[in-house]
Amino acid sequence: MSVESEEDIIALKRVGSVVYEAIHTMFAAMEAGMTTMDLEMIGAEVLQRYGARSAPKVCYGYPYASMISVNEEVAHGEPSRRILCEGDLVNIDVSAELDGYFADSGYSMSVGQGNAQANQLCRAGKKALQAAIGMARDGKRIRDVELAVRKVAQQYGYSIIENLVGHGTGRHLHEEPSNVPSWGNRKDKRRFVEGSVLTLEPFLSTGPRFAHETSNGWTMATLPGNYTVQFEHTVIITRETPIVLTAA
Ligand code: CO
Ligand code: CO
Repeated sequence: MSVESEEDIIALKRVGSVVYEAIHTMFAAMEAGMTTMDLEMIGAEVLQRYGARSAPKVCYGYPYASMISVNEEVAHGEPSRRILCEGDLVNIDVSAELDGYFADSGYSMSVGQGNAQANQLCRAGKKALQAAIGMARDGKRIRDVELAVRKVAQQYGYSIIENLVGHGTGRHLHEEPSNVPSWGNRKDKRRFVEGSVLTLEPFLSTGPRFAHETSNGWTMATLPGNYTVQFEHTVIITRETPIVLTAA
């Protein structure tokens, strides 16, 4: 969507802060021995408390409030009885609808003290998202998100997952622009436009460049032994630094 009023901005900030609270309440509670379903219930309770609804439930009939991906899982992991272990790398992605407005965010963190490899990848992933946010502004080419993300990935020696991308949002979970890549197509002429609401969500990995669909037809993964992180914010494009809706 494109914001047209102060009212739009206030409503988007409201749903963005609910998404933020859900993700961070889940991570604050996360510890070895819990199942991913235990985490899901904590996130679902936060959405419910504010009268927000799971966006993939509203838009696609997905049964849960969150997507929780562990280790080689990259995205769209379904909450289950899987038990989290010390050092597992966990991505939580929550998107919600409140009063007809949508926001979407994701964050990666390892369980307990984590492990050095996963923690380093998390540091790089956070920097990649900040770099993407830093370049996304009115008039800039959308494909230049790649330059910002790739620079960080290269600094650390990581790869970018090329087939998972950001997207417009605001009035539906997925809107135009439908493809905000973390890698560039030289023919892509689109530019960011002031007022548009979209996600930036680079995925960095320890090697793989593509995530494949798994047998449940939903979860995306790479091969075991690899790690991937995703950090995602929903933003409003302005002429300066974007307004981040899903941060504290
Ligand atoms: Co998204
Ligand atoms: Co998301």
